[in-house]
Amino acid sequence: MRVIASSQEMARICREVPRPLGLVPTMGALHRGHQALVQRARQDNRTMAVSIFVNPSQFGPQEDLTQYPRTLDQDLDLLRGEGADLVFMPAVEEMYPPGFDTWVDVGRLATRLEGEQRPGHFRGVATVVAKLFHLVRPDRAYFGQKDGQQALVIRQLVRDLDLGLEVVVVPTVREPDGLALSSRNLYLTPQQRQAAPVVYRALCRAQELRRRGEVGAEQLRREVRSVLASEPLVEAIDYVSVADAETLEELDTVGGRAMVSVAIRLGKLRLIDNIILE
Ligand code: PAF
Repeated sequence: MRVIASSQEMARICREVPRPLGLVPTMGALHRGHQALVQRARQDNRTMAVSIFVNPSQFGPQEDLTQYPRTLDQDLDLLRGEGADLVFMPAVEEMYPPGFDTWVDVGRLATRLEGEQRPGHFRGVATVVAKLFHLVRPDRAYFGQKDGQQALVIRQLVRDLDLGLEVVVVPTVREPDGLALSSRNLYLTPQQRQAAPVVYRALCRAQELRRRGEVGAEQLRREVRSVLASEPLVEAIDYVSVADAETLEELDTVGGRAMVSVAIRLGKLRLIDNIILE
């Protein structure tokens, strides 16, 4: 496994490795959710590359950039164990040298849900991912369904800029009680950890109602909200969305594939999760 810090060197090596080349972009603090991405990338490709870069431009001024968990030695052990060939770990100045001033803005899709709650977030994500794709030139890139909107934004980016790679979305990995794995789960207090599975219970409620034949999107939103509100530690519900699974436009009636997404606040932490209704 080669660990590379320089963009130029990464680009040079990636031009020479056996194809197909799969890339798993991450911000480190790797957990079983990332492991599922890495394993899938290993299966599908002759070369597997992982990037670890805590991308400052996708954090808002009030967000947790400096507190974002960093577990580098463990991350490298995990990646060695999973047979990664290349790990790209650039410094911030390598990705954003002085004078950097070009940004990638994905349109409407990136203004909804997380885009509305976290202005500039997807601009930061799209810019860094476009840079990574440009340096690595992967045949495939792997993202988790946990960040469902992010995966859609990146698909749109790839389509619109003719980046010529396949975006593979891997199912969310959950704890036995349904909590979706996330690097930020490390910061849940024991009480918050006990309360957190309410998010998945609320999503399952929508799924159950849909299975029983409910097609009213507002009815589904109302039920999801009422499950979330039943947990006293939930301080705020940022949104409950029942939207078209491709465009994220809010639905009146659920016909085809829909994505039910929620974002809540538990103390200082924000939890997001989603489920697809087929
Ligand atoms: O999902 C993440 O970890 C990040 O948003 C990503 C895709 C690595 C871009 O920084």
